[in-house]
Amino acid sequence: MRDNAPRLGTSATAESITSKHTPHAFSNSHDSRVGDERIVVLGGVPLRGEVEVSGSKNSSLPILAASLLASKGQCILHNVPHIADVGTMCEMLQALGASVQREGHTVIIDAENLQSHSAPTELVRKMRASFYVAAPLLARLHRAEVPLPGGCVLGPRPVNYHIDAFQKMGAVTTVERGAMNAVAEHWHGASIYLEPKNSSVGATVNIMMAACLATGTTTIENAAREPEVVNLAEYLKKMGGKIRGAGTATITIQGVKELHGTEHTIYNDRIEAGTYLTAAGITGGDVTVHGLPPVHLSVYIDKLQEAGIEITHGDRWIRAATVQPLRATDVATAPFPGFATDLQAPFLTMMCLAEGRSAIEENVFDVRFNYAAELLRMGADITLTENTAIVRGVSKLSGAEVQATDLRAGAALVLAGLGAEGRTEVTKVEYIDRGYEHFVDKLRSLDGQVVRQTKSGNKK
Ligand code: EPZ
Repeated sequence: MRDNAPRLGTSATAESITSKHTPHAFSNSHDSRVGDERIVVLGGVPLRGEVEVSGSKNSSLPILAASLLASKGQCILHNVPHIADVGTMCEMLQALGASVQREGHTVIIDAENLQSHSAPTELVRKMRASFYVAAPLLARLHRAEVPLPGGCVLGPRPVNYHIDAFQKMGAVTTVERGAMNAVAEHWHGASIYLEPKNSSVGATVNIMMAACLATGTTTIENAAREPEVVNLAEYLKKMGGKIRGAGTATITIQGVKELHGTEHTIYNDRIEAGTYLTAAGITGGDVTVHGLPPVHLSVYIDKLQEAGIEITHGDRWIRAATVQPLRATDVATAPFPGFATDLQAPFLTMMCLAEGRSAIEENVFDVRFNYAAELLRMGADITLTENTAIVRGVSKLSGAEVQATDLRAGAALVLAGLGAEGRTEVTKVEYIDRGYEHFVDKLRSLDGQVVRQTKSGNKK
C-alpha cells in the first residue's frame, strides 16, 4: 500500500471519512432506517488479502422455495447467507404455512402443514424470486395464486415462460388484478422448449420444481445451465425427486408421488466471488477468494486475464493480482457458461480505468446500464448504444455521491469509489443488502477504506 494512503477512523488523514470513532462491524440491519444509510468510501487504497465467499443468493432462493415440496420431514439447509432476499423468502414460506427457523447460516423448514395457495402481494412485489413458490404450490396443492412480480430496473422481466409451462402441465391460468391464478385438475408432465436466446434461469428452476410431483415425465429443452440449477437439482434428488441432465441444456424429470425433507448445503456465491476479484483489479490490489471451484467463473476469469490481471487458483480458491496497467477488454453477457450478466456492472466499472476502448454488450436483460449515469458523475467516459456500452478508459475517477440502481450496480459503485480519488458516498444501500453478506466488513478486511453510516454520519 502506498505509504501516504488515506486511512479510515483516524483524524490524521487529510480527508478521513470519520475521525469520531472506529465504525462498528456492519450488522445486516433490515430496520426502516436502512433507507437513509449509505456506504462511504475513501479511494486510493489497493485491496489486499483473502476473503471467504458466502452462500449463493441465487442458489438459496430456489432451494428455499423448493422446500415447500416436502410433505413430510424437515428440510435442513446449510450455508444460507444472511441477506435481505433470504429474509423475504423465509417470510414468504411462513406466510404459506411452513415453519422456518434460522440458526446462524442454517435454515430449518417444515412444510408438512402447507395451507395457503395464495402468496402475499407485498412479498412478491418486493422480490421477483418469490414467484418461485408458484411451482411448489401447483405441484402440492394443484392451486396457486401468485402476484406477477412486475418489472424492475432491469426491464419488464415477464414470467410468460413460467406460465406457458404451467399451462402445458395442466394448469388453467388467468391473470386478474396483477396476479396469476392457476388451477390444475390433473397435474402432469410435458415437453417444454425454452427460448434458446434466454435459457431462462427462473423458468428452468420453476419447471423443475413443478415437474417433480407431476404425473409422468417432463423434459426441458434449452434449460439454463447455471451452477444454481445444479445445486437445486441435487437438493430435489435428495428429497426423492427423479431428475437427469441438470447443468446441461436438456433436463428430464420423472414425477413421483411425494417428496420428503432432507439436509443440503448451498453452493457459495460465484457472483460475490467475481465482485471481490474485480475489486482487486479496480484498486491495483491482490485478492484471494476462498470457497468455490474456478469452473463456476471460468469465462469471467478468462476476461480478467485478458484485462491484464494475473489469475492463479486451486480447487476451491481464486487469486487476482494486479501486475500491470489494466487493458481495455470487450465482453458480451450470455447465459452460463457465458459471461455472467450479474458481473457486467463490476467489469464495466473496472474498464473505466483500463487503457483503451471496451465494448460491453448486455444480451440477457433489456436494460442493465442505468448505473452508467452514476459512473459518468465520477468522471467515467461511457457512451451507450442499443445494448452496448462503449467505455473509454480515463486516468482517474473522482469520488462523488452516487445512488445504487440495483443490487449488482450498487456493489459496482462501491468498487468505483474504491478505485476513485477522494470520497464517494453510495446511497440506496438496501439494494446491496439484498445479495451481499457483510459487504462492508469484507471490504474492510481487505484494507478497503469503507464505512456504513446513516445520513447524519452516525456509524452503523
Ligand atoms: C436470475 O433471474 C437471477 N436471479 C438473476 O440475478 C440473473 O441475472 C438472471 O437469472 C440471469 O442469470 C435469481 O436467480 C434470483 P431469467 P431470472 O429468467 O430468473 C427474460 C441478481 O442480481 N424472461 O434468466 O429472473 C427476462 O426478461 C439477479 O442476482 C422472459 O422474457 O432471469 C430476461 O431478459 C438479477 N420471460 C431473460 O429472460 C420469462 O418468463 C433472462 O431472465 C422469464 C425470463
